[in-house]
Amino acid sequence: MPDSGTLKYGDKTIELPVRKGSIGPSVLDIQKLYGQTHMFTYDPGFTSTAACESKITYIDGDEGVLLYRGYPIEQLAEHGDFLETCYLLLHGELPTKAQKDDFDLRVTRHTMIHEQMARFFQGFRRDAHPMAVMVGSVGALSAFYHDSTDISDPTQRMIASMRMIAKIPTLAAMAYKYHVGQPFVYPKNALDYTSNFLNMCFAVPCEEYKVSPVLARALDRIFILHADHEQNASTSTVRLAGSSGANPFACIAAGIACLWGPAHGGANEAALKMLAEIGTVENIPKYIAKAKDKNDPFRLMGFGHRVYKNYDPRAKIMQKTAHEVLTELGVKDDPMLEVAVELERIALHDEYFVEKKLYPNIDFYSGITLKAMGFPTSMFTVLFAVARTVGWIAQWREMIEDPHQKIGRPRQLYTGYPRREFVPLSQR
Ligand code: SDX
Repeated sequence: MPDSGTLKYGDKTIELPVRKGSIGPSVLDIQKLYGQTHMFTYDPGFTSTAACESKITYIDGDEGVLLYRGYPIEQLAEHGDFLETCYLLLHGELPTKAQKDDFDLRVTRHTMIHEQMARFFQGFRRDAHPMAVMVGSVGALSAFYHDSTDISDPTQRMIASMRMIAKIPTLAAMAYKYHVGQPFVYPKNALDYTSNFLNMCFAVPCEEYKVSPVLARALDRIFILHADHEQNASTSTVRLAGSSGANPFACIAAGIACLWGPAHGGANEAALKMLAEIGTVENIPKYIAKAKDKNDPFRLMGFGHRVYKNYDPRAKIMQKTAHEVLTELGVKDDPMLEVAVELERIALHDEYFVEKKLYPNIDFYSGITLKAMGFPTSMFTVLFAVARTVGWIAQWREMIEDPHQKIGRPRQLYTGYPRREFVPLSQR
């Protein structure tokens, strides 16, 4: 592989250095291109652009591979737990027993939020979308924790990271309780991270709530699957917001706002609504035709991916988890699962989807599982945000700690008016 590329343009010949990664595509370093050619590159969707160097997560979209710090997602989901994955993403190595116990305890001890935050929720309408509440409440954390926002101090960066990971489930559960009009449930330190989240969501003051270990394990695995995913739209949002030195809690709120979109994390909610709209297996061909119709904006939600041009490895594990949860809950023949499995079977054999390499992604099966657990569809993307917070935080810290870090400031291809003179109102 040559260590540089050559760009010939007009009478200019520019050498572009090639930088190789440990695995995956190399990059053409174009940082000096504008200075040498007075030209920009043009890549609006960043389909061919590496915006940063990272050591956290690697995806091979053609092979359907996802690695967190080098460990395959299948092995982490099978053998690990979510807080262990959080430690791995933050510190780069799997924890020893002592490190894990210490990390779990520190997260547990930060799960409570400032009592005044509870009043903050009262300002929202009860029927506000929980993601709107999450954007507001996570952003509000930046108004409460002033002792961990000097991002130049590594200790404060770590405290802010632990606080974010610990408090996001508490805020998510409060958003749900507020939405359904039930009282907030405080964290219980005797419970593990995911059991505590389920308890804060589904316990009520009137009776004891017993967390199902099967559901807790299934949700913990779902959190592992959603924890990080390279430079996806919401992670790139967090990195760009953080590159200005903004408050870390405010940067995570920006990530939540971006994740909400139906093309991104909002797809799990949209996929379940689509399955409900399709309703029966007999209706599937009509919707496949709509998805293929260029004049119809309808897309199969939960299908396709910018990077995966093979099966999303997370979707396979999600499908297995969906079956496990439905079995545990005694849900027989869930019509939406039946539609999902048949829709997947048809789409995987349809030449449109095969040719465009459209496979189910993580959002295709997650909604069925989360609905069976008792979450309303409006909470699905909130659960995605709970899990992805550790990925955003790990990527934010990597960006801040990069010695070459500078504020992100893309340029543009300008196609507007050249200079023209102002016309007084009396002459228009
Ligand atoms: C997530 O980036 C990440 O890593 C995201 C994520 C993460 O963990 O952070 O993995 C989480 O966001 C998963 C994706 C969830 N979104 C959806 O399921 C929404 C439905 N999918 C599409 O909107 C779409 O596939 C995207 C947004 C996911 C990817 O879009 P791209 O890469 O920009 O691809 P594209 O829109 O250019 O599509 C390529 C072609 C187009 O046809 P042509 O213009 O070439 O003729 O495929 C078609 C599209 O029309 N196409 C679909 C389709 N997805 C793409 N056609 C029907 N149904 C679909 N779902």
